[in-house]
Amino acid sequence: MTAFTVAIDGPAAAGKGTISKAVADRFGFAHLDTGLLYRAVGRRVLDGADAVEAAGQLEADDLDRGDLRTPEVSRAASRVAADPGVRAALAAFQRRFARRAGGAVLDGRDIGTVICPEAEVKLFVTASDETRARRRFEELRGKGLETSFETVLADQRARDAQDAGRADAPLAVAGDAVVIDTTEMTIEAAVGRAVAEIERVRRSV
Ligand code: DC
Repeated sequence: MTAFTVAIDGPAAAGKGTISKAVADRFGFAHLDTGLLYRAVGRRVLDGADAVEAAGQLEADDLDRGDLRTPEVSRAASRVAADPGVRAALAAFQRRFARRAGGAVLDGRDIGTVICPEAEVKLFVTASDETRARRRFEELRGKGLETSFETVLADQRARDAQDAGRADAPLAVAGDAVVIDTTEMTIEAAVGRAVAEIERVRRSV
């Protein structure tokens, strides 16, 4: 079986994760949530580790920790993600994953632009600030976390600015990416758009 990479980039809480999982299930592709790599490094740094060292020594167990989705870890992940040494240490693993036989879906910020510019399908999934913050707020509340919508929105804006403003591999739309704006879309419709795009490309390769 040959390689076939689906790169899904976009800001936080736009729907990348849900779309990636659905697409991976549908086509039998392996899925890597690359944000989890940066979260795991951020977590280790909060525990006192050096960022670049932690990135070089990441193990599967680090990605299974149950505490990687907290606001504190989100902030730490965005901070370590601005460090070129951290990004370099995580790049080779992501590239190998992207080109594995049988197909792969990677979601993140720089997959279509830096990690895998040769990806067969590139999607950029986005939504308005308020919609994304509302989704994240409800997710955090569902987990029993005490927070306000305003706090979530402010945190998200700070993280977006950091992710889009950094010098190395900033969040950006690849020139050849298909943009899916999920602000007014149901999740089924957004998954349907992604599936249709992948099927279109699969017919042509
Ligand atoms: O997708 P996420 O919210 O779990 O990502 C956490 C942080 O990691 C995000 O603020 C930016 C960073 N990240 C990145 O710089 N590049 C990626 N490919 C994925 C995530």
